[in-house]
Amino acid sequence: RGVIVTIDGVAASGKSSVSGGVASALGIPYVSSGLLYRAATLLALEAGLDLHQTADLEAAVLQELARHTLVLEPLAAGNRVWEGQREITERLHSTRIDKGVSIIAVMPRVRAWVDDQLRALPAPFVAEGRDMGTAVFPEASAKFYLTASPRIRAERRAKERPEDIPAIEAALTRRDELDRAQIAPAPDALVIDTGPLDLQGVIDLILSKLAL
Ligand code: C5P
Repeated sequence: RGVIVTIDGVAASGKSSVSGGVASALGIPYVSSGLLYRAATLLALEAGLDLHQTADLEAAVLQELARHTLVLEPLAAGNRVWEGQREITERLHSTRIDKGVSIIAVMPRVRAWVDDQLRALPAPFVAEGRDMGTAVFPEASAKFYLTASPRIRAERRAKERPEDIPAIEAALTRRDELDRAQIAPAPDALVIDTGPLDLQGVIDLILSKLAL
């Protein structure tokens, strides 16, 4: 099996951009695990499931996952997600999905479904998410964990969402709380505070550690 580098971290810590940059410098793809959780959430919402009211929501979500074929295409230039012949990537970064995804992501059988898809991908790649270095690829060759203060993350994310910075900050903090179970860094991960660094600074730091 080829090299696997894991880059985990809290919501809006810059994981996708950093992973994309590291992967293209290495000439390998990156894999955004969050997109699969987002895609499962989109299917649930499109099926009309009420994420707060549905009795046995997990079974209903599993049924949607069984009825549709979701495929993650881990391109170096940006991951894409397909539902059959329909590309759904653009729909996965809405505020509605941001709000619902943590409810779906705590479900053990949804996590098992995501993990199976990820482990079936051919290495080498950079894997990005919350638990890549802990649960999914504990054997990875190098592990990183990105953090930044909620305010800095909200300021960055404000460029991609219509809400104002305090609303985004509140939503990010809430998502961190809901994701708490899966956001502990691996004991052997290098934790990087991205606050004082720009995107290229984080990429260069990771590449310098990989070169050692
Ligand atoms: O990374 P991204 O913000 O796209 O992830 C969306 C959501 O998917 C997270 O808030 C979390 O609930 C879930 N997730 C997860 N485990 C991962 C990646 C994402 O639980 N490895």
